[in-house]
Amino acid sequence: MTTNKVVRLAQRPRGPVKPEDFDIRDEDLPEPGDGEIRVKSSYISLDPAMRGWMNEGKSYVPPVGIGEVMRGFAAGHVEASRHPDFKEGDTVTGLLGVQEYAVSDGKGVSRADTSLAPLQTWVGGLGMPGLTAYFGLLKVAEAREGDTVVVSAASGAVGQVVGQIGNIIGCRTVGIAGGPEKCDALKTEFGFDAAVDYKAGNLFSDLKAACPDGIDVDFENVGGDIFDAVLGQMNPFGRVAVCGLISMYNATELPPGPKNMRNILVMRLRVQGFIVFDFIKHYGEAMQALGGWYKDGKLKFKEDIREGGIETFPAVLSELYTGGNFGKLILKV
Ligand SMILES: NC(=O)c1ccc[n+]([C@@H]2O[C@H](COP(=O)([O-])OP(=O)(O)OC[C@H]3O[C@@H](n4cnc5c(N)ncnc54)[C@H](OP(=O)(O)O)[C@@H]3O)[C@@H](O)[C@H]2O)c1
Repeated sequence: MTTNKVVRLAQRPRGPVKPEDFDIRDEDLPEPGDGEIRVKSSYISLDPAMRGWMNEGKSYVPPVGIGEVMRGFAAGHVEASRHPDFKEGDTVTGLLGVQEYAVSDGKGVSRADTSLAPLQTWVGGLGMPGLTAYFGLLKVAEAREGDTVVVSAASGAVGQVVGQIGNIIGCRTVGIAGGPEKCDALKTEFGFDAAVDYKAGNLFSDLKAACPDGIDVDFENVGGDIFDAVLGQMNPFGRVAVCGLISMYNATELPPGPKNMRNILVMRLRVQGFIVFDFIKHYGEAMQALGGWYKDGKLKFKEDIREGGIETFPAVLSELYTGGNFGKLILKV
């Protein structure tokens, strides 16, 4: 009999995740009821936010409960349908959890058009990370032609799309990433105008050399010293879109705050956090643009697909917080 391999949250992690924070087990295959579908997932998206979803406390979504299936985006095939809008064989994506099979009432599940892009891309550049880049850059930071745009974690799922959209609309794009290999790829694969290796030890001066006219837009993915260095070089009326603070997600104690706060005042900066779900009503518009650019060859997506299956979830997830991934991190099921 077929079973369903499921990752459940066993305890709230302290610091980086450990295998014992999860209960990974075989369960009975779930049966869809009236109005439901069963999806067999092929690709599970590994996202930095997963670490935050495991924490107790007030946030933009409730925490995953102890014993619950770990929240996560996935893409797969409808294997059984008792839902009027889906049929067997449809390729779909949505918040289906970290498990091999998911039963869903179809809410938040959308079609993945595999004639446009391979299935895994629907949890990457044409999924939540691509939407995040689109809304963060264009609607939150209001980037426009001629702006110097800096993005951190630039070779990752969101960052690589931010840089490419910046290029499409005529910005000067500067990516910050860890190590020469990622920094080379920023320029040669994604078309960034300049790349700064924050691990090289001269972040502030290297950033200054890469941004001779200062910085108009910061697409902030990391926080900490990187955020501080960028904040210190912002131009008057610059915009900071705070998308993520990955350097802090595993912290057991909060690091000191940014030192360059004065620039928010004297440069009259607008600093705004955002969550991609805020823009849910506008996903259609964004998908049209992203899909169109992809089709025209103006956007490309680097994916880092791991083959180990569900059991490797804790180890593969950990790599996001140490820079072990190169591109959108995806677990093949
Ligand atoms: N607001 C939203 O709705 C939303 C939605 C999606 C994602 N996000 C945020 O966007 C950011 C990027 O997410 P992603 O999915 O695109 O991940 P990603 O960039 O594909 O992977 C994470 C990358 O972050 C970098 N990193 C990790 N720890 C770091 C540290 N201490 N200092 C500097 N860099 C570090 C690493 O790259 P290097 O090797 O270059 O260090 C790593 O590869 C995250 O902060 C995430 O939470 C927000």
